[in-house]
Amino acid sequence: MDGNGRWAKRRGLPRTAGHTAGEETLATVVREAARRNVGWLTVFGFSTENWVRPPSEVRHILGLHRKLFGRIDELNANNVRVRWIGRPFDEPGSRTPAPIQKAIRDAIRDTSHNTGMVLTVAFDYGSRAEIARAARLAAVDAASSGSTISPAAIARHLYDPELPPVDVLVRTSGETRISNFLLWQARQARVFFTDAAWPDFGADELDAALALVS
Ligand code: IPE
Ligand code: MG
Repeated sequence: MDGNGRWAKRRGLPRTAGHTAGEETLATVVREAARRNVGWLTVFGFSTENWVRPPSEVRHILGLHRKLFGRIDELNANNVRVRWIGRPFDEPGSRTPAPIQKAIRDAIRDTSHNTGMVLTVAFDYGSRAEIARAARLAAVDAASSGSTISPAAIARHLYDPELPPVDVLVRTSGETRISNFLLWQARQARVFFTDAAWPDFGADELDAALALVS
């Protein structure tokens, strides 16, 4: 969900206003994607690299994640189930504050009965770290069973082994890089590039992205 800062700058607003607008956009996109019977929507909310941003900006973005994970009534009304991928909270180096951990756990629990779209939020996520961890765990399995490390064995240890292969990867704000997102899962993905900054992403962009795989 890139381009919040540039969106705000163009309007003479602080970067935080762009993030606030971006969170509203996500609420809209979740609703529109669910209406279109998208099965899985995975969004990059905060990367392991984003912690180096100014503390006030990080604080603001974290607050918006609490807001996002707190939209329980809306998620339930749209039959959306929440999941999360990211560095495990008990892993050395984890920086996710306790209130965010709680918001994530509560959202997962309070939407677990829904049967529609799965919304996976990547928070404190980095794809290389995910794959390296999965490989380490697969190596432990291989050592104990005397087998070799297969792709399937690595896939079993990704943060969410049930996350299906990515059909279409969306890149906003004119960026044409992958930026350490779902490198394993997106191996066969179509890629949709748009110049729209994330806060301007709407139903038209969503339809154009989905058209790549329909
Ligand atoms: C994306 O918008 C939000 C996060 C990475 C959390 P940016 O903050 O990266 O916006 P730009 O790239 O500066 O426009
Ligand atoms: Mg950016």
